[in-house]
Amino acid sequence: MNVALIGCGAIASAYADGLAACPALALTCCADLDADNAAALADRYGLTPYTDAGALLAAEDVDLVINLTIHTAHAAVTRICLEAGCHVVSEKPLAMTADEAQSLVTLAEEQGCVLACAPISGWADAQQMAGRLVRDGHIGPVRTATATGNFGRTTEWHPAPQPFLEIGPLYDGAVYPLTVLTTLFGPVERVRTADAALLLDEHAHNGRSFRVDTPDHVTAVLEMADGPLVHLTASAYVPHRTRHFSSLELHGDAGSLYLDDCGNFDGDTDAPLLQVARLGRPYRPFPLPRPPHPLRYASLAVDAARAAERGAAPLASARQAAHVVATLTAVETSADAGGGRPVERCGFDRPEQLPWTQDPFPHPDAHPLAVRGGFAADDRPRSSAPTGGSLSRSHLDPAPTSPPRRRGSQPEAALPSLPPIGFGCSRYRGGSTYVDLGNAMADALATGIRLFDTAELYGTDAELGALLTDGCGLPRERLFIVGKVWNTNHRPDHLRTAAEASLKRLGLEAFDAFLLHNPTAWRHQGPLGDLSRLSHEEATARTFPTTAAGDPARADVDLAETWAAMEGLVEDGRARHLGVCNVDADGLADLCSLSGRTPELVQVECHPYRHPTALIEAAHARGIRVMAHSPLSAPGLLEDETLRQIADRHDVSTAQVVLRWNVEQGIVPIPSSTNPDHVHANADVFSFSLSDEDRTAIDALHRPDFSR
Ligand SMILES: NC(=O)c1ccc[n+]([C@@H]2O[C@H](COP(=O)([O-])OP(=O)(O)OC[C@H]3O[C@@H](n4cnc5c(N)ncnc54)[C@H](OP(=O)(O)O)[C@@H]3O)[C@@H](O)[C@H]2O)c1
Repeated sequence: MNVALIGCGAIASAYADGLAACPALALTCCADLDADNAAALADRYGLTPYTDAGALLAAEDVDLVINLTIHTAHAAVTRICLEAGCHVVSEKPLAMTADEAQSLVTLAEEQGCVLACAPISGWADAQQMAGRLVRDGHIGPVRTATATGNFGRTTEWHPAPQPFLEIGPLYDGAVYPLTVLTTLFGPVERVRTADAALLLDEHAHNGRSFRVDTPDHVTAVLEMADGPLVHLTASAYVPHRTRHFSSLELHGDAGSLYLDDCGNFDGDTDAPLLQVARLGRPYRPFPLPRPPHPLRYASLAVDAARAAERGAAPLASARQAAHVVATLTAVETSADAGGGRPVERCGFDRPEQLPWTQDPFPHPDAHPLAVRGGFAADDRPRSSAPTGGSLSRSHLDPAPTSPPRRRGSQPEAALPSLPPIGFGCSRYRGGSTYVDLGNAMADALATGIRLFDTAELYGTDAELGALLTDGCGLPRERLFIVGKVWNTNHRPDHLRTAAEASLKRLGLEAFDAFLLHNPTAWRHQGPLGDLSRLSHEEATARTFPTTAAGDPARADVDLAETWAAMEGLVEDGRARHLGVCNVDADGLADLCSLSGRTPELVQVECHPYRHPTALIEAAHARGIRVMAHSPLSAPGLLEDETLRQIADRHDVSTAQVVLRWNVEQGIVPIPSSTNPDHVHANADVFSFSLSDEDRTAIDALHRPDFSR
């Protein structure tokens, strides 16, 4: 079958790439009003270019046309292709009015041509699985749904945003959830109510500014003939990276179901595409086929070609697409008709500022409505220790931790305000594996984690920096960022360069704590700023220099000299506190004996199998805070039977027991995880406390000879 592409814009090459993998469909020619666009696509795929669709249809022997023109041109281009006797695949929407869409369906039938319309996503794995769960009654009869098509400010993500701004979010973003809804439940019966607003009349990005006249935020309530009452929002104002981009949430008598992205058709995403919650239970990701069934943009052409061959309707049928357009037109008409009513104020005014709006993160028990068994004005928290069982996860941020106070002359910790738990930003997972931590760092931040452990070795500081600067919305002083200089950069000039380069990648002026990754110096290997782009093997070769005998290649750099350079960073405002990793009690004492600043933080491997008691006691005795790295990854630890029994008693996971055990010693664990459930659970260790019996059992797990 010969195929032509009409419209050679941003999406055309995705279609062309897919067609190249499909021998039954031969892409031969293309057209675009912009001659450069047409020529560029033609050059790349060996096609004959045209600037006029009519000329292409007259000159070429085309069986199937893929219409990728701008939204408002879809109907006219589809019409001339059908009139020329071609099968047509149209990008969405099929047309801009219900009448236009219906007339195309009729024309295709009269001409005996197949007419298919994007999106194909209703037939993708997650959407189909959702349909099966609904059909099988997994969540009971579905009575209400929330659907979003929030494609956000097009100026942020599309090279040619104008056509999107002209048509508004309804005829683009809303098409995805409506296509899935109608695939699952059939037609919409009526629009109960609708409203359209223009929230921002100018969208700007990178110095370009676009006027907007079409409503950029539309809401509607739709009644389906045989399905739920749907609350639909389509917005070009709500950013597309928010929680609800193209989402669909169904609520049934027995549970709920959440589709994260109705437009996803290739399964290529880190977020769980489908989640299901039994009534009253939390959402859980629902497993989908791995690898996913590979749908591509060109799958629409395959669908149309198969339909033509079999004399059947395509899956992505024009009738459904026309019905979606009819729904959009009805929403528009309903919104235009208005129906707003003023509302009586009843003497109600905006409340006075609540305490937390003045001091955003007070201690939990300072809340005037905290329930602690009494209402006495001087009611005090049950325990001033932040490790008490009454605290909740949201108190990660406010409740600083301190090392346990003992009788005697223990000095005050120099770092009293460390958050109780942090997030480890190393992407290394043993063997030769690196993981992607982008989403996990964002999850950690969203969960309330404020301490991030970075290092130039980890290659993740630019990603964290983007997260922190790109709207984490927190003032800098709410965050605690730890950095580390790698062993190959101990010489003072290298150390300074390394610290400044890390700060630059993080977008920060200063580290809250800057640590020596190890007290020993290795041979300099040049700057390490490009580690994020290297494979594990390449990065290892760069960062672990060896001698001919295979031993670490040491460098002759005196620790005192290195430490003086660290102190220089504090003096210049590039680090607020200093520390060291991977020392024992003697190593810490050596460092403390150097003149100048003593370390205020020591980071070591610490978990129930490896408890460096001497070091911890020595550190706490000097007022030095201890941070536990690799708290969860000791082989067998999370499956340990003793920990399992304790976890079961508290109805938590073994990981939570281990983290809680650290926190109760005033040690700050910095677990890492790529799993959103784990990230949340790791932050949630404040709703239980270990008994003396638990602690004794955990302490007994220590193995003096433990090594990885
Ligand atoms: N200073 C140093 O020399 C040094 C050395 C090593 C590490 N560190 C620091 O310590 C941080 C943490 O150490 P690490 O990266 O070795 O990892 P870790 O935190 O000890 O363990 C991570 C592993 O545990 C799993 N995990 C996490 N939470 C879990 C949970 N709740 N339930 C079950 N499994 C869970 C993770 O899998 P999922 O992803 O599937 O959750 C991952 O495989 C590093 O990121 C780094 O910042 C410092």
